[in-house]
Amino acid sequence: MAITEEFKQELKARTDIADVISSYVQLKRSGRNLVGLCPFHNERSPSFSVSRENGFFYCFGCGAGGDAITFIRKIENLDYVDAVKLLAQRAGMTVPEDNENDGMGNLKRRICEANRAAARFYHRKLYSPEGKHALEYLRGRGLTEKTIIHFGLGYSPKDRFELVNYLKSKGFSNNEIIQANLANQSKRGYPFDRFSDRVMFPIIELRGNVIGFGGRIMSDIKPKYLNTSDTPVFNKSRNLFALQFAKNKAKGQLILVEGYMDVIALHQAGFENTVATLGTSLTQEQAMIIKRYCDEVVICYDADEAGQKATQRAIGILRPTGINIRILTVPSGKDPDEFIKSYGDQGSARFRMLLEKSGNDTEYRLSKLRSNYNTGIPEQKVAFLTKAAALIAELDNPVEQDVYISRLSKELDVEKESLKRLVNKNNRRNYREMRKDEQFRAQARMSGLNDRMNKDKQFNLKAANAEEALIALMMNNPDIAQKVSQELPSEKFVTQFNKNIYKVLLKRLETGEEISVSDVSGEFSEEEMASITRMMLSHPKEPDPVLAAEEYTQILIEQSERLTPEQAETADYDTIMEELRKLREKKK
Ligand code: UTP
Ligand code: MN
Repeated sequence: MAITEEFKQELKARTDIADVISSYVQLKRSGRNLVGLCPFHNERSPSFSVSRENGFFYCFGCGAGGDAITFIRKIENLDYVDAVKLLAQRAGMTVPEDNENDGMGNLKRRICEANRAAARFYHRKLYSPEGKHALEYLRGRGLTEKTIIHFGLGYSPKDRFELVNYLKSKGFSNNEIIQANLANQSKRGYPFDRFSDRVMFPIIELRGNVIGFGGRIMSDIKPKYLNTSDTPVFNKSRNLFALQFAKNKAKGQLILVEGYMDVIALHQAGFENTVATLGTSLTQEQAMIIKRYCDEVVICYDADEAGQKATQRAIGILRPTGINIRILTVPSGKDPDEFIKSYGDQGSARFRMLLEKSGNDTEYRLSKLRSNYNTGIPEQKVAFLTKAAALIAELDNPVEQDVYISRLSKELDVEKESLKRLVNKNNRRNYREMRKDEQFRAQARMSGLNDRMNKDKQFNLKAANAEEALIALMMNNPDIAQKVSQELPSEKFVTQFNKNIYKVLLKRLETGEEISVSDVSGEFSEEEMASITRMMLSHPKEPDPVLAAEEYTQILIEQSERLTPEQAETADYDTIMEELRKLREKKK
């Protein structure tokens, strides 16, 4: 889609960023801005702020920021064009027709098309003579015809060129096939199928696009599962297997399991609110997605030690989102799929019983902890209670803390008050550590030390700060921007990151396009937009913008004439003397 400047202006006029964000985040008024809990990272006190007036949002906790389009890109995991479309639909505008030439968007579309064609191909192969053993394997694992079709399962043939040749015959280029990670590239440069002789599990995102695959080998060869590597459309840490089905069945609760087969077995048994991660442990991004679709998650990982470790880890990631967590432990070392299968017709009913008696995460953690101690022995009892108090102190809710304090003091026959004192000691320590953490992060941000986007910043703080102030100033004052752009060539920018932003502004000014935050988001990535928004916030409107612009320009001219440490090493005598002379002059 060619998004015209006119279209963008109209969209901007019709879009109220506070309105858009309110459908995802509960916002409260605070001074001129609105604030809420950041949807992009876990937090307990709001550091996410929205400026209706300026049309941008920014999170002081994680540094996410940008305009309404950036917000939608990030929260819906869309590219720029699709985010514009979504906002346009919301604003009741007719979206111009797609045209084939919009770079990354186009490649992504082709990758999705190739994936879809591949999924159909694999599915057909499952029912061909070649795939007979794969179909038998799936049936042998108890899957019904309906389930196989519902999940679009398939078979990737042994021959390493079947899919590549098929896709080529359908008009896909080698590059598209390789970028989709459906093929690997040989040393000689030709593509060959990535998946061979495996049962195929298509991974489908919420809009119905096939974004990747998992493929299970039917023998003992390693790896058991081969997954699509990250591609322009596929990111393992941002997607969940079967979420496209589960989100409609969630009714407030999702079940989280470890494996593809666990998901499929549970869906077949009627638990269609089940999802799995994609071969990696749960990420914060996935936790935020889960939170969007339910208010309770049941973790149901394998009963083995790895599964229990993963459970503890997942609790740590999910807890800060504020979602209710329950833990379902499958007995006798089985995974959910094996459990259901072992009970035949009764599998579903048996699993429901487990689900009903699954405890919450605190109960789970306390009982895990307790299993390490023999509380009949006084020393061990004390050791356990000390650890338990630390665990209880992590709970935000004082009433919740009280429930467990009461319970434990009864169970272990200790004074409630003394256990409470122990918990409170930990409460205070937790609070101090949280404060220290926040202060450290704030300091690091100020010093530019952890500016991941602008790597040169920490070595050129003065220049970088002037550059950022100038960028913010220009974006706030288009009339001054014109003047600056004529007086300050982009070579005077010292840090590469800011120089690139400045170049984009120059280009837009030259062609008479606008440069406020909500005009430029098509030109920048999500991360770049976040940096720009931070600049705008750290450099609010100047009382005398003309004077300020002159000062920043002057600083940049001086800074750009300084020798870098590398230059100084190789510079000749005259250059260094000249540099010193300039420095002395400035001091006077
Ligand atoms: P499991 O081995 O528990 O999966 O690994 P499963 O679904 O129960 O497998 P079956 O029952 O033996 O068929 C859990 C998940 O970890 C990832 C996959 O996503 C799998 O579903 N995994 C596992 C890999 O990515 N690669 C592997 O080699 C193994
Ligand atoms: Mn299994």
